Amino acid sequence: MNAALRLAGALSLVSLFPLNALAADAKGTVEVVHWWTSGGEKAAVDVLKAQVEKDGFIWKDGAVAGGGGATAMTVLKSRAVAGNPPGVAQIKGPDIQDWAATGLLDTDVLKDVAKEEKWDSLLDKKVADTMKYEGDYVAVPVNIHRINWLWINPEVFKKAGIDQPPTTLEQFYAAADKLKAAGFIPLAHGGQPWQDSTVFESVVLSVMGAEGYKKALVDLDKGALTGPEMVKALTELKKVASYMDPDGKGQDWNLEAAKVINGKAGMQIMGDWAKSEWTLANKVAGKDYQCVPFPGTAQGFLYNIDSLVVFKQNDKGTAAGQQDIARKVLGQDFQKVFSTNKGSIPVRNDMLADMGKYGFDACAQTSAKDFLADAKTGGLQPSMAHNMATTLAVQGAFFDVVTNYINDPKADPADAAKKLAAAITAAK
Ligand code: GAL
Repeated sequence: MNAALRLAGALSLVSLFPLNALAADAKGTVEVVHWWTSGGEKAAVDVLKAQVEKDGFIWKDGAVAGGGGATAMTVLKSRAVAGNPPGVAQIKGPDIQDWAATGLLDTDVLKDVAKEEKWDSLLDKKVADTMKYEGDYVAVPVNIHRINWLWINPEVFKKAGIDQPPTTLEQFYAAADKLKAAGFIPLAHGGQPWQDSTVFESVVLSVMGAEGYKKALVDLDKGALTGPEMVKALTELKKVASYMDPDGKGQDWNLEAAKVINGKAGMQIMGDWAKSEWTLANKVAGKDYQCVPFPGTAQGFLYNIDSLVVFKQNDKGTAAGQQDIARKVLGQDFQKVFSTNKGSIPVRNDMLADMGKYGFDACAQTSAKDFLADAKTGGLQPSMAHNMATTLAVQGAFFDVVTNYINDPKADPADAAKKLAAAITAAK
């Protein structure tokens, strides 16, 4: 069954008119559901909260812990089924269309803001289209994350006798061996499905290149999913996994990031929200830590765009609050402060083209430069693990097969590739 129909089916029993929100305040209350709960991410989202509160609105924080957002999505669905969705929620990629198709998203409330603030010319067309349903904005994009990063503690590298960040998988394994021999955890990693698939897609990009990544993880081409390149990618994934933190099973990504920051581990493969933890610990990019593209992926950019959707509500105060949030989110001031804290880059074209002017650090400048360059070469591809490439049902199929594969000592890569293709066909 098509994902939109599945979601619509789940919600069909409920009224499309949510219960009235708290209407007593002067300007309005908006509840915002999101999963930005690590220390660094909380600091980033608090910036938005403060700006909205300064404008006289009440920000009801609907934070749901759980990296990658799976728990937040479950909460959101049950809230929608109960007829009580929040005013604003973090939803991303193709999922936005599925939610909009249920009729629960508001296609009117952002109209004037988008027009006044000229969103169509501020944003890349691809980004703008993802935020629209049948031509109307139902979401505001917040920032752009890159997935395929490797985070390095250079002090630990030095102690282990490694003088260069790895740029190939072979160098990565050699560095990991040295880290292990020197008594460090080579690769900090929390064994949660979304983290396993974050590593998986980085390895796929490294082995199969952007074109192969697209065929397999975006177009879901059966030949690419089961072919020799995918088998090779899965073989490399198993090797990468052999260096993962043995205490990392079920661990949150930020607790694993802390192991690199505190000098217990040498590296972590993680999207650039990892930088929010380094920033919170007062560490400086290029000096206290290094961010390099995951080995073999310098020409590729797996993107992940955070966005906030607006749900239909029936009081004017909430609508005004939704508009205020949308206006603030795409303002230059917020774009700079939020991404600086969060580790991402702005979503506005004018800022991406002139990052130095806004004081962004070396990691962010590289990211923006690569984002713009890779958009022209086809190196820019949507992240499967972060809801940008497929529906959540297909993503779930990837997560299951990848995590089982990583955890099964007897797993065979060719067999895993076949299982991937079968699970995806069933989920489509
Ligand atoms: C991503 C999200 C990021 C970050 C990360 C870890 O899906 O886009 O903003 O929160 O999960 O939770």
